[in-house]
Amino acid sequence: MTAPASPDTPRPPVSVLLLLTAGILLDPAPAARARQSGPTFTRDVAPILQRSCQRCHRPGSIAPMALMTYEEVRPWAAAIRRETARRAMPPWFIDKAVGIQHYRDDPSLTDAEIALLGTWAETGAPEGDEADLPPAPSFPGGVGWTIGEPDLIVESPAVTVDANAPDWWGAIGAVPTGLTEDRYIAAVETIEISDTTGGAVFHHAGLQALTPDGRFEMGTIHEVGRNAELFDPDAAPPLTAGSTIVFNNAHLHATGSKTTAHLRVGFRFLPIGHRPRFETTGITLGNPELDVRGNTPDQMVEAFTTLQQPIKLVSLEPHMHAAGSRMCLEAVWGVVRQTLTCLGFDPEWVRAYAYEPDAAPLLPRGTLLRLVGWMDTTPNPGNPYLTDYRNWTGWGSRPVDNMFMSYLKVILLTGDQFRELVTDRTAKARAGTASTLGCLPCTLPFAREAGGSR
Ligand code: HEC
Repeated sequence: MTAPASPDTPRPPVSVLLLLTAGILLDPAPAARARQSGPTFTRDVAPILQRSCQRCHRPGSIAPMALMTYEEVRPWAAAIRRETARRAMPPWFIDKAVGIQHYRDDPSLTDAEIALLGTWAETGAPEGDEADLPPAPSFPGGVGWTIGEPDLIVESPAVTVDANAPDWWGAIGAVPTGLTEDRYIAAVETIEISDTTGGAVFHHAGLQALTPDGRFEMGTIHEVGRNAELFDPDAAPPLTAGSTIVFNNAHLHATGSKTTAHLRVGFRFLPIGHRPRFETTGITLGNPELDVRGNTPDQMVEAFTTLQQPIKLVSLEPHMHAAGSRMCLEAVWGVVRQTLTCLGFDPEWVRAYAYEPDAAPLLPRGTLLRLVGWMDTTPNPGNPYLTDYRNWTGWGSRPVDNMFMSYLKVILLTGDQFRELVTDRTAKARAGTASTLGCLPCTLPFAREAGGSR
């Protein structure tokens, strides 16, 4: 504690004051050093924006403004502080307090990074030393792609939606891939290309790859705000020579201005010669028996399934409509019960979450999967999509109806394959390079010790 200065405090002699002043005038370093001690754009903020924001906030991509240079970022400092503090940006809604925390391509910020952006905005958003600025990242493939330069691009047929057209569902056509050799898919990303800026007309669109003899080989879903789909290299789906992409199930939604749009689908392939060990398939877990009351918060809905075969869970993609606010996936096997993932739900941002391969749940035959969702139908200025908030709603395809499900990508395993993966995961957990969370049999020996039963 320093005593407040008072008239009794002895004053330093004038010569000392002169020396101090002269020192400051002659040597600007102390002042400059003081300025540098807080976060600066070039040293602290730019690396965060490069990693987590610029894939969308750059010219020609989906965000309304670029956040590349200091001049572009400076006017948004306060908004960046606000949107990152409430974890609305980047759009990634995994609950950090519960469940598995290792996802592929996770752009989310740490608490320390959010605090740093806040401090930077509050201290005048200084630019800092230009020499600190890391080189700008390159975005191969140009506009929009987050997966890098696609190896193959397929353009869907175009659709035209009148300004106030009713919602429309149906197939919009099939397009040959033109592929001349068999490949395996590492990632697929779909971008809506539109002649207006008023929003997306593709509420969703199902895509299927069919072999030349009409066999199904891969399916994915494009949705508003959807990120790329990343496949586990061990279970990458094939795309064979001469295959066709069928846009079998599109839902078109008017935006208020007459719009012509189509989907641009980009594929990244694994290197020629790569052979995946397993096959991926999909499970849709959901419950159409919805009974959603108007103007009521925290309405819980549930769906269950029991696994008939051991699986590795690759990814989950929650799907709800405007009333959906949160979802959790839980696994129960014998005495073990684990929450695998909880996430917030924002109807404007339909995201798919792919687990890191060494964190992906390993679930034995007989596992009970429980999907829990929460619906909130109270009016909320942050949720402009809830137009009918006072009305009862049930399951339905229109955005004003409700849905509750999650698409799960899974690898179906034999008993031997499953035991091999569990042994590998257990060894990694012992070595400290993986966690047992999500690997139900990995934790059972400990549960047995704790419970004392055999
Ligand atoms: C997946 C794409 C994507 C990523 C990644 C992303 N943004 Fe955004 N951002 C958007 C879009 C689209 C909007 C406009 C719609 C909205 O607000 O949801 C937006 C809006 C914003 C806004 C609000 C602008 C306003 O009008 O108030 C801010 C601030 C912002 N982003 C900052 C960031 C920051 C900082 C990051 C990284 C930490 C980031 N964003 C990452 C796509 C993205």
